[in-house]
This record gives sequence, structure tokens and C-alpha cells, in this order.
Amino acid sequence: MSDIDGIRERRSTALFNDKVPEKEVIEKILYDSVKYSPNRCSIPYHHVKVFGPEFKEDKKKIVIQTNCDPKFTKTPDSQEKITQVKNLYETWIRMYKDNDYTKQDIKDECGVYDYNPQILAPYVLIYCDNEQSQADFDQTHINLNTSKTRERACQSSAIHAILTACIAAEHGVSSCFLSNISLETQFNKNAISDNVNLDKIVLILCLGYPDEQNKYNPKFRYPFDVNDVIEWQNV
Ligand SMILES: Cc1cc2nc3c(=O)[nH]c(=O)nc-3n(C[C@H](O)[C@H](O)[C@H](O)COP(=O)(O)O)c2cc1C
Repeated sequence: MSDIDGIRERRSTALFNDKVPEKEVIEKILYDSVKYSPNRCSIPYHHVKVFGPEFKEDKKKIVIQTNCDPKFTKTPDSQEKITQVKNLYETWIRMYKDNDYTKQDIKDECGVYDYNPQILAPYVLIYCDNEQSQADFDQTHINLNTSKTRERACQSSAIHAILTACIAAEHGVSSCFLSNISLETQFNKNAISDNVNLDKIVLILCLGYPDEQNKYNPKFRYPFDVNDVIEWQNV
């Protein structure tokens, strides 16, 4: 273990470079993340599907589905629409990688909805709701037959993912969260959507090394006022 402080050093990376972290390092991060994550009632409410560097081509395909523009997500699926989303992505990523363009230039050309190129990272961890209904781990009295499996999976995934990101930072590995894959389609076949039910995704964490040249790295961190978040209660 290095002496990097994972909580304070972790920053989200918008764009990763092609350098692949060693698999043993990722395995160690994942091992510790499971070992040290707290768990409600000692029951697992999510599982994590890991897509390593061997899925590079599949990630290049699914990146177009990370755009959440309702013009794409809320309209009928078709080959024409997917071709349009793909062409728009080619323009968007070219401008995004070119530091001469401003965010406004990109919006003027491509619209206000961004793609999420962090999905191109060498390691992509997909946290899914496992629809846990089995309460026979330690606490058999717990009733899991409710409509709240996604809520429980979101809680456990969020806690597990932030811990994973902090442990990764301690190993010098950068990360970025991604909320979900917004656009579902039958016209963009790839191994990720073949193996993951996109409706069951609660969070994605991408791991790799940052493209140091790109001006969007690290991502913008809003300087919250602590008093906007923390509300001390007085008697
Ligand atoms: C639950 C969660 C979901 C996020 N989803 C996305 C996302 O969909 N796309 C994205 O680019 N960044 C996403 N982020 C990353 C935030 O943009 C990033 O955490 C923020 O800019 C602060 O930067 P920092 O992580 O370096 O503190 C998400 C972060 C969290 C915690």
C-alpha cells in the first residue's frame, strides 16, 4: 500500500488514456473494496460486472449510448437514429479532445447533452441491482419482498463504489462514476449490453489513468459551502 490518502487524492477523470493498469492491482482494489464495505443487514444487494481491457471495442461501441438527450432516449429505436447518434459522437469527441474548443463551441455544434467517454476506460465496473429476495443470510426475519430492491442496491452500490474509487486512488489508479447507460437500442450490438440488463444498472465506475493533456481532467468539483449541506440541530 502506498502512502497516498485515497479520500483526499481521489478525483474524477473525464477522459482516460490507453495505459492499462495491471490486473493484479485491480484485483487487489476489488478485493479490498468488498472486504471493507459496510453492508446493510449483512446482505448483498448488488453485484458488480467487470469489463476489462479485452472489451475495448465493445466500449467504443457503447459510448454512443451514454448520451441522455431525450431526443434520442425517448424516441423510437431505429438504425437511422443510431447512425445519427454515432455521427454526432464522432464530431463531439473530436472537439472534446481538442483543447482549443470551449464547452460552448461543443454545445453550439452538438447540443447541450454530453457523451460520457469515461466508459472507454480500461476497467469498467457495472454495479447492478441483484433483486435480492433471499433473507436467509444472517437475519431471516427481514422481508425483502418489496418494491424497494433498487433503493437498497443504490445504497449498497454507492457505498461500495466510493470505497472502490478511494482505494483505487491509493494505488495511483484514477476513476470516474457514470450514472447509467441512457440509450437502449437493438442497433448497436456489443458484449456489454449483451451481458448486462441496462435497466438493472444502478452505478458505473470506470478505472484507469487520466489523459493528462485533456483540459477536462480532473472533472469540475463544485466548491460546496459546508453549511449548505450540514445542518447542525440546536436544542
Ligand atoms: C453518483 C454519481 C454519479 C455520477 N455520474 C456521472 C455521470 O453520469 N457522468 C459524469 O461525467 N460524471 C458523473 N459523476 C462524476 C461527477 O461529475 C464528479 O464526481 C464531480 O464532478 C466531482 O468531481 P470529483 O469526483 O473529482 O470530486 C458522478 C458522480 C457521482 C457521485
